[in-house]
Amino acid sequence: MDVTQRFDGLQADIEQDFGEKIVALRRDIHREPELGFDTVKTAEKVLAALEGLPLDIQIRVAENGIVATLEGAGAGPTIGLRADMDALPIHEETGLPFASETDGKMHACGHDGHTSMLVGAAHALCGMRDRLNGTVKFFFQPAEEGGGGGKVMVEEGAVEGVDSIFALHLWPGLPFGTVASKAGPIMAAADSFEMEIKGTGGHGAMPHLAADAIVIAAQIVTALQTVVSREVDPVQPAVLTVGEIGAGTAFNIIPETARVAGTVRTIDPELREKIPQRMEEISQGIAGGMRANVTLNYNFSYPVTRNDPASAKLALGVATELFGETSTLEAEHPSMGGEDFAFMLEKVPGAYVWLGVGDVSGLHTPQFAFDEEILPRGSALLTALAMEALS
Ligand code: NI
Repeated sequence: MDVTQRFDGLQADIEQDFGEKIVALRRDIHREPELGFDTVKTAEKVLAALEGLPLDIQIRVAENGIVATLEGAGAGPTIGLRADMDALPIHEETGLPFASETDGKMHACGHDGHTSMLVGAAHALCGMRDRLNGTVKFFFQPAEEGGGGGKVMVEEGAVEGVDSIFALHLWPGLPFGTVASKAGPIMAAADSFEMEIKGTGGHGAMPHLAADAIVIAAQIVTALQTVVSREVDPVQPAVLTVGEIGAGTAFNIIPETARVAGTVRTIDPELREKIPQRMEEISQGIAGGMRANVTLNYNFSYPVTRNDPASAKLALGVATELFGETSTLEAEHPSMGGEDFAFMLEKVPGAYVWLGVGDVSGLHTPQFAFDEEILPRGSALLTALAMEALS
């Protein structure tokens, strides 16, 4: 059987056989978003949707994650497919009939779609069990948006024995239905930091008797902008964003302390180590010169998501066969976004791919929504990835 024949009609079959189920599950998850590791109801919905399939199911992996294992008829390698299940602390403004019923929580990163697509792939692959040589493990992972559920799954040994692993992410800005990926880094290392500036409080009218934490924080924030522009090789990607700043209680009081927090994104491992050192030196210099102290807490969070070149090639090849050359793209650059699938890719060779949803509101915005036509397409892609990796 040639490859073209194998994938022929796969998306149409999935749409016909499981399309309604996938959409219903996606809406059900979307209505009830859950954050971090707290994906109890989402996991229940996934389990209900997998009911009756010939899967060996492990629950409570990384707290509320699920690993479902399909043993094919013949012997062969073990392939992992992973979806994230958690939502974000954002108040939804899509106006969708199945919008979040919880104030301040929303599936604004498409993880409801990823989870449903993986359930669709599980149905499709279970249906071809007799023809599969090897094992497919379906990973339903909590806490991608901070918390590192992927890391916990790895620490619990969930990916041990897996020979290669794949995941996808819905991608606004990429033409609808287009699959993009690349060899090597595809998502950045995503780290965070928090600084406390401790000066001397005082009366707003007597600054000479104080060490003004607000002015010092402002100087530090400005100086931090020179880390990327003056300390990093211009051809190296890096981002330093201050996302939070806080100080003060009243207009006429000089506060004793100020707090500054932000994120740093890098691709190069050496640069990832260097940036916090320069941040420390620069902020200490400024605070010291202005009679204050500063404490930098730097948190190395998610490493670079690094695709194994052979797996990325396999993924793009599968996408080309499934959807055609015009719907497949080799990405030029990584995204500076972070992704905890990185931890799985540190243990197991594999690839992370983007699936375009066109020009819709961005990820992590209150208006993020996508055309559900993408769901069977994503299921077909995951299914075909497993089929190809097993062959
Ligand atoms: Ni996401």
